[in-house]
Amino acid sequence: MSDESRPTPAQASVAAVIPAAGRGVRLGPGAPKALRALNGTPMLIHAVRALAASRHVSLVIVVAPPDGAAEVKSLLDAHALPDRTDFLVVPGGESRQESVRLGLDALPPQYEIVLVHDAARPLVPVDTVDAVIEAVRDGAPAVVPALPLADTVKEVAPAAEPGAPEPVVATPERSRLRAVQTPQGFDRATLVRAHGRVTDDVTDDASMVEQLGLPVVAVPGHEEAFKVTRPLDLVLAEAVLARRRLNDGF
Ligand code: C5P
Repeated sequence: MSDESRPTPAQASVAAVIPAAGRGVRLGPGAPKALRALNGTPMLIHAVRALAASRHVSLVIVVAPPDGAAEVKSLLDAHALPDRTDFLVVPGGESRQESVRLGLDALPPQYEIVLVHDAARPLVPVDTVDAVIEAVRDGAPAVVPALPLADTVKEVAPAAEPGAPEPVVATPERSRLRAVQTPQGFDRATLVRAHGRVTDDVTDDASMVEQLGLPVVAVPGHEEAFKVTRPLDLVLAEAVLARRRLNDGF
């Protein structure tokens, strides 16, 4: 496509890739994390609904556990989802990075903006999703939702022996640190390039764009976009859902 015929960013279509292939061992034994229920509904369905709630998102690609694509497909079929959104399910890989790349491989050509959202962040509010999309449409190649930290962060060195105290080596200035969430938003070509070039183990997609030397910007995240990682997070997530139901008047 020539530069002249490219749609303007304001018209660019948006797809979301949801990596949901992790086992979630820190939550304890049981089903893959994304398939655990929150108030009776699988975490993945909450996450899919959260992204599809944005009227800008017209396709959601779910990256299922490698042997669980059929199960995830039936799960999507069994739950009410918006009609205006298309859904695709693809099998994932060994690492989060590989799962995202497999999701990107399935992305039809017309999508110019891609969001990558952890299934493990089922409660992200639609305003956060839309703020990320808006910043990409305004021209940022990569956008992360981020929050200031409550805790002071220390960098430590490995302990002398297992179980021994770890030596603290540095204290980064807290006011300049941010905890980064998802959905992270990207100009599609930038994200595809990053996944084609960066092979290091990374914990988010924006860091791959940083490694290419391209700018990444942060917009305000939201406390309800927390990642469900440990058993206590499940309790917190159910409390957030209960509060929403009360506020919605049900
Ligand atoms: O492991 P962590 O909780 O950071 O995973 C973040 C997200 O990446 C989760 O939604 C998880 O399902 C996904 N993931 C994946 N494929 C893997 C590992 C993690 O899709 N192999």
